[in-house]
Amino acid sequence: MIIGIPKEIKKNEYRVACNPDGVKEITSKGHTVLVERGAGIGSGYSDEDYINSGAILKDTPREVYEEAELIYKVKEIFPQEFQYLREDHIVFTYIHSNAYAEQTDALLEKKVTGIAYEDVDDKDGEFPLLKPMSIIAGKGGFLAALHFMQRVHGGNGILLSRIDGVRTPEITIIGAGNSGVAAAELAAALGNKVTILDINIDKLEKARKELPSNVELLISNRANLETCLKRTDVLINCILWPKWRKDHLVDRDMLKMMKPGAMIVDVACDDEGAIQTTHSTSHDDPVYEVDGVTHYCVDNIPSAFSQTATTTLCNVTVPYVLKIAEKGVKQALIDDKYLRRGLTTYKGLLTLEETGRKQNRPWVTPEKALGME
Ligand SMILES: NC(=O)c1ccc[n+]([C@@H]2O[C@H](COP(=O)([O-])OP(=O)(O)OC[C@H]3O[C@@H](n4cnc5c(N)ncnc54)[C@H](O)[C@@H]3O)[C@@H](O)[C@H]2O)c1
Repeated sequence: MIIGIPKEIKKNEYRVACNPDGVKEITSKGHTVLVERGAGIGSGYSDEDYINSGAILKDTPREVYEEAELIYKVKEIFPQEFQYLREDHIVFTYIHSNAYAEQTDALLEKKVTGIAYEDVDDKDGEFPLLKPMSIIAGKGGFLAALHFMQRVHGGNGILLSRIDGVRTPEITIIGAGNSGVAAAELAAALGNKVTILDINIDKLEKARKELPSNVELLISNRANLETCLKRTDVLINCILWPKWRKDHLVDRDMLKMMKPGAMIVDVACDDEGAIQTTHSTSHDDPVYEVDGVTHYCVDNIPSAFSQTATTTLCNVTVPYVLKIAEKGVKQALIDDKYLRRGLTTYKGLLTLEETGRKQNRPWVTPEKALGME
């Protein structure tokens, strides 16, 4: 199969779908990989690195799309890329068809096979192609707190680490999932007093096995949350708030409970979600203040750690690319029910129920679209 890797065009997106090691893995199995010139620069990989891994460089996105069968990307397809899409294309990337209706239209009109990273799941019901990004976002979220607490970066000058003779800083994390546990791991490693709150006792028990003993694990209820808010230096929110909820876990009034100069890092960064005062920010302008509390709500934290993020994403996506390349996309989808869950569009049919309901469009199950039922 011919696999094409275009350069990402989203602002502040420095990742690329595959690193040179991943390309080598694919080309060593006899497939062709086309890489747009400069696609790896943002992640620290030169064109030469890709050539040495067996890739063929292309000067323009048009050439990559024209010659490739599988378009291997990180972010969604942008309007300026719609012109390149064709019926026999397979697009494998974070699609988020729910959020980008115009892109959904293009994938349907051009009859592209779209497989979304974010919807591929596994036998435990987890999302293996999202997990590595959540882990980086959790760690990056804590590192942002370490940075923005510094006086020279506008903070109150607290070093988020245990120092003899000084009160140990306190970090509260809401959500003991992938990002929450990752943030806790770093925060605890520097000797901070870390508390994680979760509504799911199983998640707390799992976190207990993964984290050192200086991490306190509490059930998430109002009393525990308020106790933590009063004493914490940094609150890290790692839960996605259901879209239908109109209330908030931390509303604006509750910011008054927090210490002056405390900080909120909202990894989930839902606008007015779990944290009422959250609005998503970018790496260009990452922080703002509400009632004396600094907020950091960057919605693509992994891009700041582009080389690590590219590598970890490529590690989990390459096996699927190989499966699709070796079996053909239809057979790969039929054989692997977890990959099939990621099928978003197929031969002009929408196959993602959530997007069908949200955008009021007709949809069919992936099984029906593939002729399995
Ligand atoms: N900012 C970024 O760049 C970035 C990058 C990757 C992921 N994310 C986002 O980070 C968020 C978290 O991702 P994840 O993979 O860690 O999620 P996850 O599903 O692994 O973990 C969420 C945890 O929150 C817990 N939870 C749910 N409701 C709760 C409540 N009311 N109180 C306390 N705990 C509660 C769940 O039990 C679960 O353990 C997602 O919204 C994801 O989209 C952001």
